[in-house]
Amino acid sequence: MPKDSVVNLVPHPNGSENTLPSHVLLDAGGTSLLLDVQGGPQPVPTYWGPRLPWETPQTIDGVLAASHAQRVSGGTDTPAPLTLLPQQSSGWLDTLGLSGHRKGAGFASKLTTVAVESDGESATIWLQDLEMALALKVELAIEPSGLLRQRLTLTNEGKTDYTLDSLSMVFPLPPSATEVLDTTGRHLRERAPQRHDITNGTYQRESFRGRPGADSTLFMAAGPKGFGFGHGLTHAVHLAWSGNSRVGVTRTTSAETFFTVGELLMPGEIILAPGQSYETPWAFAAWGEGLNAVSKQFHDYVRGRPSHPRRPRPVTLNTWEAVYFDHDLEKLAELAEVASKVGAERFVLDDGWFLGRRDDSKGLGDWYVDEEVWPGGLAPLITRVKDTGMEFGLWVEPEMVNPDSDLARNHPDWILKGREELPVSARQQQVLNLSNPEAYDYVRERLLALLNEYDIAYLKWDHNRDLLEAGSGGAPRFHEQTKALYRLLSDLKEAHPEVEIESCASGGARVDLGIADYTDRFHTSDSLDPTERLVNQCYTGIVIPPELLSAHLTTPTVHSSKRQVSVDYSAAVALLGHFGIEWDLTTADENTLAQVEAAVDLWKKNRDLISTGTIVRADLADPSLDVRGVVSKDLTEGLFTITQVTSSPFHPVGNVHFPGLKDDAQYALTVLVDGSEAGPGQTPLPWIQEPPILTGQALADIGVRAPTQFPQTSTVVKVQQVVSGT
Ligand code: DGJ
Repeated sequence: MPKDSVVNLVPHPNGSENTLPSHVLLDAGGTSLLLDVQGGPQPVPTYWGPRLPWETPQTIDGVLAASHAQRVSGGTDTPAPLTLLPQQSSGWLDTLGLSGHRKGAGFASKLTTVAVESDGESATIWLQDLEMALALKVELAIEPSGLLRQRLTLTNEGKTDYTLDSLSMVFPLPPSATEVLDTTGRHLRERAPQRHDITNGTYQRESFRGRPGADSTLFMAAGPKGFGFGHGLTHAVHLAWSGNSRVGVTRTTSAETFFTVGELLMPGEIILAPGQSYETPWAFAAWGEGLNAVSKQFHDYVRGRPSHPRRPRPVTLNTWEAVYFDHDLEKLAELAEVASKVGAERFVLDDGWFLGRRDDSKGLGDWYVDEEVWPGGLAPLITRVKDTGMEFGLWVEPEMVNPDSDLARNHPDWILKGREELPVSARQQQVLNLSNPEAYDYVRERLLALLNEYDIAYLKWDHNRDLLEAGSGGAPRFHEQTKALYRLLSDLKEAHPEVEIESCASGGARVDLGIADYTDRFHTSDSLDPTERLVNQCYTGIVIPPELLSAHLTTPTVHSSKRQVSVDYSAAVALLGHFGIEWDLTTADENTLAQVEAAVDLWKKNRDLISTGTIVRADLADPSLDVRGVVSKDLTEGLFTITQVTSSPFHPVGNVHFPGLKDDAQYALTVLVDGSEAGPGQTPLPWIQEPPILTGQALADIGVRAPTQFPQTSTVVKVQQVVSGT
């Protein structure tokens, strides 16, 4: 921290001459964050949520004064409020914002606010502890979408090393937050929701895997019990980081409820030499009336980034489930031809093309085209792919190495490990230490060589194992590995800005807004099963907008579950994502290919709407139904899917709602795919026969009768404005 920058750029509302302002109010995008600067030794986050009418300074003073607690029996003499950096020095008795030491001493920090700068939409606050020789910078900003972000930087201003054990960010929750929702999962089943009551104590989710992991929570949300997609004031946090993390919700016995978010540090992982700093990843925080509004804040932010992919998302054919490791030029060229005929625009050659890679036991690290399988290199295939009009993409897994590879044999010292022996292997592979400059240079050089030699428009960047004991020279390297990954991705983007990159990690084990800054798509899951995907895409989509989420048409017999599914069902579930195909289409008959072509065509006709519109999900009493859609920004059109997931307890089924349109505008409904079949005793659904004109409010609050469909069937409805409202 610049020592002479103890400035106060936020005038006190009453013109006081205090060095520090009484408060910082950030107010942007419909969000307010109010910090009570003098209510504690560190700023007290008095309020975060919907914008409040702060007409007069008295309103703010009143809000601050009304929140101060009284002294109570059995407590400290000065009540300790929740601050942005809870420490014991203020009398705080619960979870700490900072923990660290200097060889066992100096644990009792008292970082205290010394300077504040704010422009009303962002703020930088400096804290200092002269005795412990520590300084902290807090950066806060509200994005135009209303999304709040926060980052901390801790600096060692002392003369000896400071070992940082943990540093986390605080986001306050209102007293109405009584239930927490987060996601869990496993390979093939990422991001399944789970809910708990918020009770006294801390509920915490941690990732130790060097990547978020299939089981990790993408976000943590809190709201009133039973909060849904469209109701209940909901707050949510996400850590933009692709390594280890810790996110929790705490309720103290002094009635403070708050999220804590930060990187999970391994013992001794961050030792700050004199003058050195540690910067946390950004934490992003959204609020809204239900999860739909929360996701809108995330999506608007993500879409507003300069690096966000804006050209129409190409329909992507991925070869993995079509041929696995069985690479053959003629077969793959034929697949490319069929794929392009049904409308695919990008062809991605998956795992199996490099030296010795005939199965998943060998070759990782040897990033040279295997001439045995690809005599003449990849050029013949790329030419054939490009002749069809498609662009070419290639699978890589640059952070990994098989012990059975030339790379591992030549450079065993480049492999991450915490002890003499190698960590427990996973998918028969180990992890390269990218914080080793030689290993980094090797991987970078190999990737650049491929990108320079071939016309590659796309890299599918995989990462197929969790990290264990990821160290070097006895010290943990989880943090450095993640930093090196970002550096590598950024180097490649700088050299080849036109190349898009997909983040894949055994499917969706590395989905976060950290890596999103260097990549253009996520592989949402290795499960292409539409029934599983409904849940996975819904909750991944709370943070990540649909145009960044792979949504692939599956083979009729799903490889990962053996479920039999129709093309229409698979296509309807894939509709609200970045459409792709993962299927050996050379084996499909004419009729099936026509169905695939129709599905591709439907997606292409709607891809602009899907890539820019607001995603909405309906809250329904019938657990067997799923209704979701996308509404254009100008509210003139929407696209909805009504999916019968299992059999319904109702017969006929009830009404379903289409939320998110303009209340007093009128809309015409067109059924693009009718999933209902008039079986014995069943007549066609009247409104599908004669589609009505309904107002946005009627669609949201009354809805339409859902078609009675067989399980695993979807109906797709387009909604178009015919009379605009006020
Ligand atoms: C895991 C990915 O999720 C799959 O799509 C595929 O690329 C395989 N790895 C290849 O090994």
